[in-house]
Amino acid sequence: MKKFLLTGLIALCLVPVSTGKPAYKNPRLPEEKRVEDLLSRMTLAEKVMQLNQYTLGRNDNVNNIGEVVGNLPAELGSVIYFGSDPVLRNAMQKRAMEESRLGIPLIFGYDDIHGFKKVYQISLGQACSWNPALVERMCAHSAREARRSGVDWTFSPMIDVARDPRWGRMSEGYGEDPYANGIFGAASVRGYQGAGLSSQDAVAACLKHYVGYGASEAGRDYVYTEISRPTLWNVYLPPYRMSLEAGAVSLMSSFNDISGVPGSANRYTLTEILRDTWGFDGLMVSDWDAVRQLVNQGYCKDLRTASATAIKAGVDMDMMSHGYDTFLEELVESGEIPGSVLDEAVRRVLRVKFRLGLFEHPYTPESQPQERFFLPEAMQTAGELAAESMVLLKNDGVLPLRGVTRIAVVGPLAKNPSDLRGNWHAHTQPEEVDVFLDGIVREFPEAQVRYAQGCDVPAESRDGFAEAVALARDSDVVIYCMGEMQNWSGENTSRSSIALPRGQEALLEALKATGKPVVVTLTNGRALEIPRVDELADAIVETWQPGVNGASALAGILSGRINPSGKLSVTFPWATGQIPIYYDRHKSGRRGTQGVYKDITSDPLYAFGYGLSYTQYVYGEPRVVGTASLSRPFTVEVDVCNAGEVDGKEAVLWFVSDPYCSVLTRPERELKYFEKKPIAAGAVETFRFEVDPARDLGYLDAQGRYFVEPGEFHILVGDKDLKLDLR
Ligand code: NOJ
Repeated sequence: MKKFLLTGLIALCLVPVSTGKPAYKNPRLPEEKRVEDLLSRMTLAEKVMQLNQYTLGRNDNVNNIGEVVGNLPAELGSVIYFGSDPVLRNAMQKRAMEESRLGIPLIFGYDDIHGFKKVYQISLGQACSWNPALVERMCAHSAREARRSGVDWTFSPMIDVARDPRWGRMSEGYGEDPYANGIFGAASVRGYQGAGLSSQDAVAACLKHYVGYGASEAGRDYVYTEISRPTLWNVYLPPYRMSLEAGAVSLMSSFNDISGVPGSANRYTLTEILRDTWGFDGLMVSDWDAVRQLVNQGYCKDLRTASATAIKAGVDMDMMSHGYDTFLEELVESGEIPGSVLDEAVRRVLRVKFRLGLFEHPYTPESQPQERFFLPEAMQTAGELAAESMVLLKNDGVLPLRGVTRIAVVGPLAKNPSDLRGNWHAHTQPEEVDVFLDGIVREFPEAQVRYAQGCDVPAESRDGFAEAVALARDSDVVIYCMGEMQNWSGENTSRSSIALPRGQEALLEALKATGKPVVVTLTNGRALEIPRVDELADAIVETWQPGVNGASALAGILSGRINPSGKLSVTFPWATGQIPIYYDRHKSGRRGTQGVYKDITSDPLYAFGYGLSYTQYVYGEPRVVGTASLSRPFTVEVDVCNAGEVDGKEAVLWFVSDPYCSVLTRPERELKYFEKKPIAAGAVETFRFEVDPARDLGYLDAQGRYFVEPGEFHILVGDKDLKLDLR
């Protein structure tokens, strides 16, 4: 009997016990088993609803005005959640869990672009820090705030290479270089998803806008883009490949027409490259209304065709076009879309939900705002990031300020919390932003710091000039805070000129005429045309849009407490007419004075990678360690000496140049690696570039095939050029 009981018990342990719980609800089963089990239980209507994203909550983004769905279907796939309250979110989730037949949780998405409740420096500025570890940390803080407020999925990072500052969305990405976008994109993904997607400290990242959106013609938003296959492969796709390697679980398909086939209907990019070549198994959501826009773009005759085209191309979820919910069922029933196409899209949505642990933990713990917002470590990171990303563009010796007792703080950005937030400022309120004036007052407790606005940002009135000029006359130095409004960059904010308003320049002329040194600070979301500012200012600090905690960073740079270490992630043209202008251009057929502008210089005002500090870094001759060859990795080193008297941090940018290439011409130089390290005054630091020829020296052809041609290569670092003959 005993033996029988024992055998019975062993048998019970070995045979899976049917608990009555469906396999998809069993967290111990492999993800794919759960996905397939759930899929096999779903009706056609249930599958279709998983592929739709609606909105809920307050939506004050003018570009995204759609219906606010008060009564969401319980079977819906996803919601863009404009709130920050877990309670409202949980009420919605309860509906999905308890009122839908299968209890499939909703996934809540939101644009947590450069911060959730507390915005940080904008992405364009973040890249000027050349410090991806700091950006990763920032994204981790941001993820924590978002997830604990009910958001599972952020529509970030934007990794669109942007070379036209007239395009307002330049502010949202990491500048003009593909490699930099890839490195910062990957850092963001690690930050957002790092804690493990099912953790309450992580959100799913969404790479956007796939792909080529940054090539918008003439800087206009939503328009046609002309992108050759080699440019697609070498410029626009690499950031995506690199960020996918960091584990991103979703992407957003772009608005732009890519040389005749729109991004949200492009089977080549969405399926052949992404799924078939790169093996991506996650989720592709369309951009807002992008499926419907296929009709406006002249690619599809109506929303029904657009929906069929988009899902067949590889768009899994429809954000707000209401094409999938209206037409997919009948398209499948009529056989116009194979059931397998629908199933594949549903699988991808479910996978991300399983990865986020939503089936096990559908609800957000209901914490108080003070438990998740403005935590000291996050504020510290915001300050560090602001400090490392500000770029000293000019300094005739006035900075750091010494021995000043009367400081005039002037200008439309001096006491302007709203515009310091930048665009896509999520839930940040102006009163939560530390303004420059307050930071300067704190930084110089011994000095008399006085303020006169002078003009507002559009600067159409000069009524305030006299007061500002009088204050300047009665001061030792003027800090003039110029810049843009936050809503001059971001989506749908194209500008025909990237100069600052004429009135702001006129005030600078008036301040300069007082004979007092004028330090200009710039706050903006794009590269600017500022040759007139450069001529008049004694010093210029580019602050970008530093978010809630930029004031102490700027003040620290002004006083010398912080040695500036930012370098430009984007070229500043001398004139708007030079656009597009970027560092990694292809070579011209004629050199010297041929083919250049006859009316203005053809050089930029400030080049990519430019930025001053309060010390001087002297680069030694770069050298190869061991033997350099094309057949295996090798190392190049350079010694950098801090030859000045203050400690600093130097970002060392390594470029590769392949001067002759018989397959395709290549850019003059291409960024392949960078690293930032502290260097104490008088010290020497060695920086190393581990060159992998299979990754760093070659180029991609029109089919995306990597090749390297043996022969002459140059490794460029600082002002040095190491010529190599590589076989
Ligand atoms: C449209 C924007 O292009 C995209 O970046 C954003 O994520 C969505 N709207 C959702 O807000």
